Order: sequence, then structure tokens, then C-alpha cells
Amino acid sequence: MAKPQKRYVCQSCGSVSSRWQGQCVDCSEWNTILEEAPAIVTPFQAKHNLQGGGRAVAMMALDAEVPLPARMPSGIAELDRALGGGFVEASATLIGGDPGIGKSTLLLQAAARMALGGADVAYVSGEEAADQVRLRARRLGLGEAPVRLASATSVRDILTTLGTGKPPTLLVIDSIQTMHSDLIEGAPGTVSQVRASAQELIRFAKERGTALVLVGHVTKDGTIAGPRVLEHMVDTVLSFEGERSHQYRILRAIKNRFGGTDEIGVFAMQSEGLAEVSNPSSLFLTQRDESVTGTVVFPALEGTRPVLVEIQALVVRLASGATPRRAVVGWDSGRLAMILAVLEARCGLSFSSAEVYLNVAGGYRVQDPAADLAVAAALVSALSERPVPTDAVTFGEVALSGEVRSVAHAALRMKEAAKLGFGQALVPAAMTSEKGGLRLAGFSTVVRLVDHLLGRG
Ligand code: TYD
Ligand code: MG
Repeated sequence: MAKPQKRYVCQSCGSVSSRWQGQCVDCSEWNTILEEAPAIVTPFQAKHNLQGGGRAVAMMALDAEVPLPARMPSGIAELDRALGGGFVEASATLIGGDPGIGKSTLLLQAAARMALGGADVAYVSGEEAADQVRLRARRLGLGEAPVRLASATSVRDILTTLGTGKPPTLLVIDSIQTMHSDLIEGAPGTVSQVRASAQELIRFAKERGTALVLVGHVTKDGTIAGPRVLEHMVDTVLSFEGERSHQYRILRAIKNRFGGTDEIGVFAMQSEGLAEVSNPSSLFLTQRDESVTGTVVFPALEGTRPVLVEIQALVVRLASGATPRRAVVGWDSGRLAMILAVLEARCGLSFSSAEVYLNVAGGYRVQDPAADLAVAAALVSALSERPVPTDAVTFGEVALSGEVRSVAHAALRMKEAAKLGFGQALVPAAMTSEKGGLRLAGFSTVVRLVDHLLGRG
């Protein structure tokens, strides 16, 4: 019989190769390739298949009654909003984010609030000494909260400790990259360690009914460090985002087995911890008393939540033939190039010999395609040095043909703008029948918008 070929399987993405490599060629993860025993197919096995000999699995109706999972509010409304109503019993949540963004602060605040509300909460820090955590809690005014605190990195020690007696209602592990399972070789933070540690902790949570929260670090390219499988293993993945140089933080659900992923929580990092921001628009709108050229207010939508942000454009004419710069902060640079091309090709405006800068105020990152029209208006205003009225908001999607397309949730956007004192909206022509308490000017094409802003017809 021929000697069975060796098989090497990437533990992160599952790709199979015939030799060992340090880095997986498919998912680019390091040290994830392990030798697996080849499946030996005996003549007996070949004759039999998996279509018999097993136990019958109960098949149920899809419409059977399902009890909703019990939710435990964290006491922080913005966190609960992102979670879809609070932590869920016997579930695992992963919170990812850049170092220093405020993950530990948020979870300490949540842990303390829940403990003060009577829940049994355990907080295990693998990164900070217990005293450091205690000091921070004191600084946050939460030093009195009855949280069970430990500084540990051995999963065996943690589970041995928590396994005796009543399991905690909430268990925070900060962070999963510092945890170590002695069943597996390798240093903490390696793919296999992260996975093995998470697996044990999640099993504990599911068996004992604990709501488990894992903190995960984020790598330079923005994914949660460790294997992608970590995201598959947990029930909920939250991402904590923001610019460290700015105050505001957004908590976004990326995956949620118990609810939607379109809600966000908004916080401001202050000297006394993370404060909830129930009116995000106030955070991103700069003081606007007089009109400034190149500035347009855009009612963005985060999930179902409108957030008014200010888009600023600056166009600088170059005398020489130097290559002009295009710099974008808070928006997609490819999308800016597209809007510039549309303005050049469809409206005859020339930006080719000018430097173009685009900035979204407050360190906010716009992902909503409805920003196209607002960006176009800001660029036209900056180029022509004519301000857009200060009491106007602008939204709509721009097609390559120069048409202005309708966008979702126009009424929500306009209602928020009206609430904050805006009087008019520049919108796609197809949306002028929407009611939102604003005077509406509709545009079917970008050319119409340019004419309007330049006072032509
Ligand atoms: P931290 O929660 O330690 O971040 P992470 O766990 O995501 O790495 O937050 C650290 C930053 O937050 C730190 O740079 C200081 C700042 N901070 C405040 O501004 N105010 C506060 O009350 C606290 C606790 C932290
Ligand atoms: Mg931390």
C-alpha cells in the first residue's frame, strides 16, 4: 500500500498544503499550520458511508415557540443599545479595538454598574495588576463596587477559581491575547493559544450560564488579532472605534446572534471615564454662526440613528504644474476621486490644477453613501468660494452619470436636522415629497445642484 501523504492544515482558515510553512499562503496568518494525520481509507470504510448507523436527530418546526434569551442590562444605555438590549446569559461577546481606545475603561464601568445593581461580576485582567485596575476604578468613582477582581493569565487557574461555588453572572477577560492554556504549547497571544483559551472560557460560559466578555486587541489592518475563528466562536462581536486624538468613541456591533448589527453606542472619553452621548450630533457639529465656504452639514445614519456631521472641503489653486494633492480624512479617497471626476466631466468644473482637501469634523468616519451630494456641495462651495446656507443639510447618492439618487431613511435624517434647528435640506429630486419639517430643494442631477449653489437659474 502506498504511504499516505502528509497533510498540513492551516488552523485559521482550513487551507490544506502538502508541506509545512511558517505563514499560510491563503490567509497570511503566521504559525497556524499543523500537521494532521491523513485520513486512512480502509476497504471497509470505503464500502460503508455515513448514511446509516447513526442516531436519529429530532427535527423540529421552524415556527415553534422560542423563549427569548434573558437580557441583563449593563446599566450603560449606549452599551446596551449596541448589544441589542444587554448581555445575554450563557453567551460570549468579543470586544475589539485599538490599544488605548477605552475597552478596559468601558468594561470596568459596565462591570461596576452591574455589580452595584446586585449582579455577581468577575473581572480578570491579564494586562494590568489588580492595583492598577483598583486605582482606575477609584478614579472613575466606582471604587466601592463589589466586583470580584483578579489579575491572572492562566485559564486553568481562572476556571478552577470560578468553577467552585456559584459561577459569576458576568465574567470579563481583559484580554484574550494574554490568556494561556496549559493544554497547548506556545506563548500567550499565538493563534493556537488564543483559540484554545477562548474555547475553554466559552465552554465554561455556556455550561454555567455566565455572560462572558472577551477583550481582543486589533492588529494594524483592523482585524481582531488571533485567528478569525475567534469571531466565529463567539455570539457577538463589538468593535470599539474612534480616533485617540478625539473624544468620541463608537461601539459598533459587527456580529450579533441575538439581535441586529445596525445599532451603535456613542461615548465621549472624559477625565472621569466614558460618558454616554445620547445626542451624537452635538459632538460633531462645530459652532456655526456665520457661513463658511466649503462647509456642509450631512445627516449621516448609523444604523437607525441619525448623526449630523460637518464635511469640510478646501480647494487650493496651484500656479505651477506640480502634481496637486488630494487628502481625505474621514471618508473614502476613492469616493472623493469619483465625485471630483463627476464634477469635472458632468459639470465642467476643473479641479485638476488644484489641491483638494476633505475633512469630516470631529474625527468621525463617514461610511454612508448618502454623503456624496454633501461632498459635492462642499467641493463646489470651496471652489466657487460661495457658502452653502448655514441652515441647510445635504444628502443624496451621486451616480457616475451625474444623477442624484435617493437614499434610505430620508425622513429620519430630516427629522434630526429639524430637531437641531436646521431649516432646509438639499436632497435628491425623487425625495422632495418626504416629510421631515424642512424646506426641501430637490436635485435630479449634480449639474442642477451646481446651478443652485452658483445662483444660476
Ligand atoms: P483603556 O481603557 O486602558 O484602553 P484599552 O483597554 O482599550 O487599551 O483606556 C486608556 C485611555 O483612556 C488612556 O489613554 C487614558 C484614557 N482615559 C481617560 O481619558 N479618562 C479616564 O477616565 C480613563 C480611565 C482613561
Ligand atoms: Mg486595556
